Amino acid sequence: MLREGLKKSEIIRLLEKKLSLDYSYESGYILGSMCSEPIDFGKELYVKYLSKNLGDPGLFQGTAALEKELISEIGMLFGGKDIIGSITTGGTEANIMAMRIAKKLRPDIENPEFIVPRSAHVSFDKGEDIMCGGIKLRKANLDKNFKLDIHHFESLINKNTCGVLGIAGTTSLGIVDPIKEIGRIIEGKDIFFHVDAAFGGFVLPFLSELGYQVPPWDFGVKQVNSITADPHKMGLGPIPTGGFFLRDSSVMNRVGFDIPYLAGGNFKHFHLVGTRLGGQVIAFWAILKYLGIEGFVKIVKDCMENTFYLVKLISEIKGIKLAATPEMNILGITTESGNKINEIDEELRKRNWMVGKFIDFNLIRVVIMPHVNQNHLLKFANELEDITKNLKI
Ligand SMILES: Cc1ncc(COP(=O)(O)O)c(C=O)c1O
Repeated sequence: MLREGLKKSEIIRLLEKKLSLDYSYESGYILGSMCSEPIDFGKELYVKYLSKNLGDPGLFQGTAALEKELISEIGMLFGGKDIIGSITTGGTEANIMAMRIAKKLRPDIENPEFIVPRSAHVSFDKGEDIMCGGIKLRKANLDKNFKLDIHHFESLINKNTCGVLGIAGTTSLGIVDPIKEIGRIIEGKDIFFHVDAAFGGFVLPFLSELGYQVPPWDFGVKQVNSITADPHKMGLGPIPTGGFFLRDSSVMNRVGFDIPYLAGGNFKHFHLVGTRLGGQVIAFWAILKYLGIEGFVKIVKDCMENTFYLVKLISEIKGIKLAATPEMNILGITTESGNKINEIDEELRKRNWMVGKFIDFNLIRVVIMPHVNQNHLLKFANELEDITKNLKI
């Protein structure tokens, strides 16, 4: 560390140089990320209210009330009523919170198990690891369309099952699992049902508005207990902003952490973290007011049009194909032979295209976020075609 501080202008010059290594959303090269450039108005408010700390809500009662209002409003969008929850650091924290709640609600189970589809995000493996043997993950197979195999899922349920997961927008392909069928299977069994809609949460309601056939995935399915949905993905909130939504408010009293020492007074929460940004809550509250349903519908409509545009371009390239029919603005690309996924990924990276690679499913993932336009996609498809020719695919 320097003994004497530098001039601000010098620091900014240094920063600009160092940060020139970063990719920018506007370049279009970020094709495999679920984040995008947040809405400007939200960014301004995030900075303005950076010092609000929701880790001590008694001190920031206005911000805390805003968070309640925000959660309740989104809960209604997700087919719920009087939904509680909170804004999190991201989908990972929200998912681990759900796993912990599932375990804590069943103290009678000695060796609790949590069943997830094989397509579940790595956050569930992290949850299992962090709980150090306190919960065991059981993985249910997928069918040929990458959806949960409901029969295998059912066969994994036993007296140790404390919780189950359905995914509304998988990380790899944006697939929606059969949430209603999962609900039917666990009906009356005292098993906690969490839905991971980290990505899909801010897509599916607007696809419904656009007239797409969206299968039931939210609190409208009466067995669903909680949902993860992240504002920093398709909600275009500041990075990071995740969300956890819970149907039954009595769960807080039963298994919330007690925080006894705060300046603002005692309170309970479900979080892994203590200090929490109030700025992300304020910014996303404002983004919802600013965009309204119509604003989100327009964003999702554009992303879907661009998704279909890329689908068409892929269909014109010899040797490659889609891994599955897209259900939202995520595409999986694989080869006809099933070979050379690593090589394609490497060649794309050499040309700066930052896609996602899912080796378990043998595919390359493209997420058509709002920062991606048709010019970017055309350039990408041309280079992909060139790569497939060079690799003799
Ligand atoms: C379905 C799903 N759940 C959870 C997460 C984790 O979200 P985060 O990176 O915000 O922790 C992701 C991230 O891509 C995801 O796709």
